[in-house]
Amino acid sequence: MVQKVVPPNMQAVEGVEIPTAVIAEDQALTFSATGDVDRAWQLGIFYLEVPEALNLETARAFGTALLDPTNPYRDVPHFGELEGFIALDNNQQTKLALRRHRWDQYYPPQVAEFGRQLDAIGVSVMQHVLSESGIPKPMWQRASGGYSSGGGTAFLNFVHYDTRHSYWGLRPHTDYGFVTILDATAPGLQVDIDGVFVDVPVRPGYLAIHFGEALSYITAYGERQATAVRHRVLSQRDCDPIRHGIVYFANPDLDGMVCQFDAHGHERGSSSVVSLFERLERDLTELA
Ligand SMILES: [Fe+2]
Repeated sequence: MVQKVVPPNMQAVEGVEIPTAVIAEDQALTFSATGDVDRAWQLGIFYLEVPEALNLETARAFGTALLDPTNPYRDVPHFGELEGFIALDNNQQTKLALRRHRWDQYYPPQVAEFGRQLDAIGVSVMQHVLSESGIPKPMWQRASGGYSSGGGTAFLNFVHYDTRHSYWGLRPHTDYGFVTILDATAPGLQVDIDGVFVDVPVRPGYLAIHFGEALSYITAYGERQATAVRHRVLSQRDCDPIRHGIVYFANPDLDGMVCQFDAHGHERGSSSVVSLFERLERDLTELA
């Protein structure tokens, strides 16, 4: 996989136009203007208007409360390296992260319900992307490792940035999965557009949707390939407003397979998710 190498100190420029979409009453993702789909697929990011029914305020309050060192949810157990209350090495990001099958046990009921609302958004985005790729519907389930029909793996993470460290907020990277849904409360997110990092402003009333590597992989032989967006979060200072984020990752079943189909429904390639993610890890390590 070819990824661009961008010096971490490269200046950001302003003024990128990020397209906007909504989720219609029939749950279909809809872009507001002609050409927006092209732009979103080329950038790998778009804004999504917050659906009216989404219980965002409750979820934000839950995330904000995690700043308190005595918050009991900081004691959620660790499950492997990816779940639990985790501080990332060499990044400012600290997060409570849990996969879907643990939400009911470890998150409050309203937060678990919020996660299921994000599942529905994730499925709408995936179905739209697969539809735009021209891959026939009967192949979607196998292409997406189960995610497009409500399976797969999802993470619901509550993030904040620890300003005691002078690291990057989050180092430049691409997300490995299909789709990332982000609600951020303060500036700092930047995306790489043609080798230049560009600010993605926080837009009240909107979520930011990122495309990841697995989405790019499964649409590679379709009529329209999604771009995995390279992005970073600037180092947060203690004088900045505290940057909280709610991050939802839509992924394939981590023990399963993802398949590449073309628009005729012919299988053109496949990979176990484990080896796909290992390849991505290797590419990123080689670039570091
Ligand atoms: Fe990311």
